Amino acid sequence: MPDPSVGTGQGGAHSSGASPHVSPRHPRLDPLADRYAARTHGMKSSEIRALFSVVSRPEVVSLAGGMPAVTALPLDAVGSMIGELVSGMGAQTLQYGSGQGDPRLRERICDVMALEGITDASPSEVVVTVGSQQGLDLVTRVFVDPGDVILAEAPSYVGALGVFQAAQARVRHVAMDDDGLIPEALEEALLECRARGDRVKFLYTVPNFHNPAGVTLTEARREAIVAIAEQYDLLVIEDNPYGLLGFDKEPMRALRARNADRVVYLGSFSKTFSPGLRVGWVLAPLAVREKLVLATEAQVLCPPSLTQYAVARYLDTQPWREQIKVFTELYRERRDATLESLTALMPPGTTWTKPEGGFYVWLKLPHGLDAKLMQPRAVAAHVAYVPGIGFYADGGGREHMRLSYCYPEPHQIREGVRRLARVIEAELDLHSTFDAVDTGTFRAVSAATARPESSRPAPPPVIGPANSDQSEDRQP
Ligand SMILES: Cc1ncc(COP(=O)(O)O)c(C=O)c1O
Repeated sequence: MPDPSVGTGQGGAHSSGASPHVSPRHPRLDPLADRYAARTHGMKSSEIRALFSVVSRPEVVSLAGGMPAVTALPLDAVGSMIGELVSGMGAQTLQYGSGQGDPRLRERICDVMALEGITDASPSEVVVTVGSQQGLDLVTRVFVDPGDVILAEAPSYVGALGVFQAAQARVRHVAMDDDGLIPEALEEALLECRARGDRVKFLYTVPNFHNPAGVTLTEARREAIVAIAEQYDLLVIEDNPYGLLGFDKEPMRALRARNADRVVYLGSFSKTFSPGLRVGWVLAPLAVREKLVLATEAQVLCPPSLTQYAVARYLDTQPWREQIKVFTELYRERRDATLESLTALMPPGTTWTKPEGGFYVWLKLPHGLDAKLMQPRAVAAHVAYVPGIGFYADGGGREHMRLSYCYPEPHQIREGVRRLARVIEAELDLHSTFDAVDTGTFRAVSAATARPESSRPAPPPVIGPANSDQSEDRQP
């Protein structure tokens, strides 16, 4: 039976003989429009999903998606391993499992976390999830009521903002720089929220090779943030899918390694093994773990057995540490291609971060340009990126874009950056031409978009509730 939600362009509610079950093509004609829960009102497609149809075109160089280079995996070995798993372990691999996840896998997860200094974790404190994305959702369900405030870096991971929005949380962004989240800005945000009587539920942070900013929290700032958490009784959600993907240095000690009571840690095998298996985890104090298991049982009963056994077997039998080195070598080469091309080709006034691991470069356009407005021109020039506004809950980030170097080959990256540089140059030309013309209309537009960030009125510090009308333009 065809999926009634997929429009064919034919039939539908207006055509003669249309089935009454076929969704009308126009959303205003949705007969259930007035019944949706309030939490759905702010939901809309993320900047990244909106690009899907574009980036899959072969002529487009996509610097948009954060897809790991899974072709670098030993696919035959992984394939035989999974086959043997089913034939060897039999029905167990195809059966329901425990809500908390497979005990053997939870033990191995503790070994993985030890690489980042978490040596006191017990498998009983680990909950296996369907990617760290489900971990984010569970943690938010367990802690956040509508209207609660979540502190999050500016910018923040688009998938986390989507979860927070669905929970009708209000996001208060906290500034970051090349050294990661700024502790003084965090303290200021906490004091401000306290003075207003806001209920701050937690700080959400990605300390390593940040998505999208590409920066890493320094050692001194890690200490400072943990101290602030202690002083202000703040819960920290440490989201760390990229921590083992450093190019030069040993992995840094996790925030969770510094404080087991105030930090809930989210991990994932998506970037170190495979995102398609959808295996991640949460490490949390026992009382929180209990709530997370109840929440996961209500949501999915249990994480999938087969993929959990596959990851446990992979960790038991395959050289996974060496495989991570294979990945980081490949990503380092692509990072280098990106940074070299940016340095060679970008017009003056463009700046970017210099990641030491992970997948992303965060680029700031020359003064006055808008990455979202420029996007159609870039797509026409066959290059794709993610506009910065997707990573803000408050409409910020217009001058920014995220470039991902994880998936394209170095020669494609160089070509993509070359195309992007031309688009930016053309945009600059256009601006200088029109800036010279004294038209009231253009001035009105340029005044709104071209003012330096520092001279713009400060945005309201806490945004939301997330389903309010204001959020229309911000959802990732
Ligand atoms: C910071 C961050 N957190 C969480 C996720 C979700 O990862 P997954 O659900 O595949 O584990 C991603 C994916 O890109 C991410 O970048």
